[in-house]
Formats: sequence, structure tokens, C-alpha cells
Amino acid sequence: MPAQASPTHAAVRAGVTPTSARCAALVRWLEHRLDPVFGAAGNPLKHLGALAVLLLWILLATGVVLFVVLDTSAAGAHASIAGLVQVPLGLGLVLRGLHRYSADALVLVLALHIAREWALGRYTHVRRPIWLTGVPLVLLVFASAIGGFWLNWDRLGQYSAVSTAEWLDALGLFGAPLARNFLSGQALGERLFTLFLFVHIGLPLMLMFGLWFHVQRLARADWLPPRALSAGTLVALVLLSLALPVTSQEAADLSSLPERLRMDWLILFIHPLLDATSPAFVWLLVFALLVALLLPPLLPARPRPAVAEVQPEHCSGCERCFDDCPYSAITMVAHASGKPGARMAQVDPDLCASCGICAGSCPSSTPFRSIHELVTGIDMPQRSVDTLRGELLQGLAALPGPSKLVVFGCVEGAALHLQARDVVQVDLICAAMLPPSFVDYAVRAGASGVLIAACREGACAYRLGQRWSAERLAGRREPRFKRSEGAPPPSVVWADPGDEAAVHARLDELRRQAAGNTACIEEFAS
Ligand code: HEM
Ligand code: SF4
Ligand code: SF4
Repeated sequence: MPAQASPTHAAVRAGVTPTSARCAALVRWLEHRLDPVFGAAGNPLKHLGALAVLLLWILLATGVVLFVVLDTSAAGAHASIAGLVQVPLGLGLVLRGLHRYSADALVLVLALHIAREWALGRYTHVRRPIWLTGVPLVLLVFASAIGGFWLNWDRLGQYSAVSTAEWLDALGLFGAPLARNFLSGQALGERLFTLFLFVHIGLPLMLMFGLWFHVQRLARADWLPPRALSAGTLVALVLLSLALPVTSQEAADLSSLPERLRMDWLILFIHPLLDATSPAFVWLLVFALLVALLLPPLLPARPRPAVAEVQPEHCSGCERCFDDCPYSAITMVAHASGKPGARMAQVDPDLCASCGICAGSCPSSTPFRSIHELVTGIDMPQRSVDTLRGELLQGLAALPGPSKLVVFGCVEGAALHLQARDVVQVDLICAAMLPPSFVDYAVRAGASGVLIAACREGACAYRLGQRWSAERLAGRREPRFKRSEGAPPPSVVWADPGDEAAVHARLDELRRQAAGNTACIEEFAS
């Protein structure tokens, strides 16, 4: 029987609609264009959450310095901020530019972060709370960024503050209209300026707190982008600050309306929109956008795959699965055997993303272990390690030979439907589901070559699978790949959907190598 694609690929992809597949393909297409420029690991599109955090840190650091060096009173703020231009060596301009441009960049990065996670369908099941806790962060980012413009108390700040007050007044929630604080001829009160300070400084603190909730379910959250990307971002912001200095506009004057403003369209676009429409329309629009943001995770999703299951009698409490789980779904608890001091893994079904990475990390998953049924410490009911071994052995037995190639492929990566007469394809929920000992096992069971096809760096659907696979195969992480003497090393190809040609090319290479090895063996034998 020629090798057939196992049913997993189709089953996993069954819930993917053509539209969502097209959106995901677009994201991959963009990422693949940037991979050669930044390297797969440093691609900014793969670190948007981390980039947002970096920008928040820059905002926080520059904000603290600005707060310390500037006059933060209603009467003195404008002159003090405008005076930054005079600080020697352009330091004032850099400080101010970093603060402003980081805020602008945060808005852009945030929009891309939301678009990417949405396009990749990352809002269902275990990601639902992650998505939902992200939504308030958008409001906090905009509210605090808009509040920042008021602190300058220049014409732009005046325009923004008055426009916001009128917009809020349209809700009719306040006893006295907020806009009365900006009556013609009146000076800005210190109490109101303190409120501005609270909006601009208090809300980011809430944002940091909210961020903790946002990533709480993620193990080893990508808190900062790779060093080169962080440094590049900082340098780009500094250069931008010097090339396009941020300067104050005329001091605010409540006796007249501001004209000819230099707008910040990324953050303050809401005000021209209010001018062009009406407060009611903009409230409706904001409400509609919020609903649109909250809706995806609340809509019915495809059925949730089975979660990982622990078999206490096969769990030694080694903690490898606990270390490798990307969603912190595993805790170590007292062992069911009751043996004093013994521990075992326990899976929280609400947190489990059904990735199978834990099965790949368990020492009990080695296929050499059992002749009959391979029961391991932690496994996926929908696709057990025993099933993988069964498919491998059956597939190898069915190939006519002499060349017999095995492809272990992640179903989230390149779409493989290998029908060749010399190939066994074994599908994995995630590449890191494969215990590395399977490679050696396949060779001993008759494979002339083994290819592992996993997603590109930074593109794992389960965040850490590609990283753990690479580290395990390189012998840097347990369970480490060990090669028997004389066995060929596994061939690895990092291939996303769309990279099918790369897999086929590597397979052809493997085929040639295997044919060479077979010829050598035959020559030696004769
Ligand atoms: C200031 C705002 C935000 C910041 C700083 C931020 C930051 C982050 C970070 C650091 C991660 C972890 C990335 C990783 O380790 O894989 C993350 C993940 C995520 N974020 Fe955000 N985020 C923000 C807003 C949002 C919003 C508004 C949404 C959607 C409405 C969102 C959706 C997600 C999702 C779904 C994940 C999980 C991805 C996965 O499981 O692979 N985030 N975010
Ligand atoms: S299947 Fe994935 S998310 Fe679930 S426990 Fe195992 S490693 Fe964690
Ligand atoms: S990796 Fe296996 S043996 Fe180790 S704690 Fe997890 S289930 Fe138990």
C-alpha cells in the first residue's frame, strides 16, 4: 500500500473556513516577505505583543523623566514642555520624540497585533480569556494617549480636551457639563490639570495591571522582542525624534478657537471625526467597534479538541511536561499512588490548548518502551503516541522499499499530502508532540531517512512547539535526541503553510541521500 496522508490533517483543518484560511494565508504571506529581511526569529510581525510591551516600557521610562524634569502645573506646563527644544545635544527633542512616537507606534503595533491574532483565529477556547482581557487594554491605551496631549496645554491639547469634554457631555451622565470647565476667557484650573495628570499617568498603571491578566495564561510570555529588534526599534524612534522633532504648538487660549493645528492622526483622529459627524454617531461607532472586538471569542466555535490526559501509573513526576506546556495548563500535585514525596502531573482542562507538546516531552513516550500498547505519562486521546507508533510501523511495513522515507509533519505547518510509494507520512498535532526517540526508532524499524517538518521559527500555532523541537533535536533540551551509531541524522525543514515546495525539495534531497546509502550498502555487500 503506498503511503497515504493520515486523517489527522483533514480532521484538524475541518473547522477552518475558506475565509479564515485566506486571512491566515495573508498573514503568512506577509510574514514570509519579512522573514528574509529580519530573519525568521526576529520578524517583527511575530513579536507584536512583545513590541507593544517594549513601547510601553519606553513610554514609561521617558514619561518618568518628563514628569521629573517638567513643570507639571497648569500655568507652567506649556512653557516647560516647549523649552525641551533648548536642551543641549537634542536630548530634550529625543526625550519628547521617544515619548510621542512610542505612543504612535503603540497604536499601530496594537492594531497589527489584533489583526494578526484575529486572522490566525486565536480567540477561541483557551485563547478566549486572553483575547477578552486584551480589549480593555485598547481603551486604556487610547484614553491615556489622548490625555497626554492635554498635558502640553497648547492649542492641540486645548482642541482635544474641549472636544473630548463635549463628546462625554453628549452622554448626559454628568450633572454639570464638563465643557463648562473650558469656558471662554477662563484659565485652566489646577484641579482640572491634576485630573489630566491622573488620566495620563493613572490609566497606564491600570494598563500594566491589565497586561498581567492578559498574559497570565501564557507560559514564558514573549515579554520583550529579540535584542536586535528591540535595539532597532529604539534606534528608529530616536532617529525619527531627531528627523521630525515633536514641538509644541501655541499655548492654549480658551478665548479663541484653535486653527491650523498639526494633528496626530493616529491618536487624535476621533476629534476631526466628531467635527465631521456628531457625538452620537461617534459613540455608536465606538460601541460598534467594541462589539466587533468582543464578538469573535463569543461566537460559536468549532468543537474543542480533547485535552491532555495523565496516566498516573506512567508518570514519574519528572516535571518535563510542566516545563514545556505553553499555556501553563499543568501543575504538579501529590502522586495518586500516595507514595510519600512522589509527584505527578495534573492537567487543568480549561487551560489546555490540546497541542500535545507535553506528550512529546514525557520520558514514558519513548516508542522503544513497550511492545504492545504504548501508554505514556501524558497523552492526547485524539492522537496518542501509540497511534503515532502504529502508523509508523504499519506504513513502513507497507512500503515496497528499498528506499523507505518517514516524514513526521506538523498539521499546522506546510500542508502535506504525500502519496509517494517510498514515503510514510505521520501527522503531528504540533511538531513538539514528537518524542525525539521516534527518529531512531523509525530508522531501526527500517526507515532509510527521516524528515521532520515543523513550522518556521516564531510561527508555532502553540507558541513554543518549534522552539522545543529545535532544542530537543539539537540536544539542548530534554528529551534530547540521541542517534544510534551509524544512523543518519534526522533532516529538519521549518515549513509553514505555503512552504510545501521546501518540504518536497528536502524530501528529494533525502531520497538522493538514502539512494546513495543503499547503493553503498549494496556495493559493500557484493
Ligand atoms: C497594550 C495592549 C496589548 C499588549 C501590550 C499585548 C501584549 C501581548 C503579549 C506580550 C502577548 C504574549 C505573546 C506570546 O508570548 O506569544 C500577547 C498575546 C496575545 N494577545 Fe495581546 N497585547 C495587547 C492587546 C491585545 C488585544 C487588544 C488583543 C485582542 C483583542 C490581544 C490578543 C492576544 C492574543 C489572542 C494573544 C495570545 C496569542 C497566542 O496564544 O499565541 N492582545 N499579547
Ligand atoms: S496539550 Fe499542550 S496545553 Fe495541554 S497540557 Fe499538554 S502541553 Fe499543555
Ligand atoms: S513528563 Fe511524563 S513523567 Fe514527567 S511529569 Fe509529565 S507526565 Fe509525568
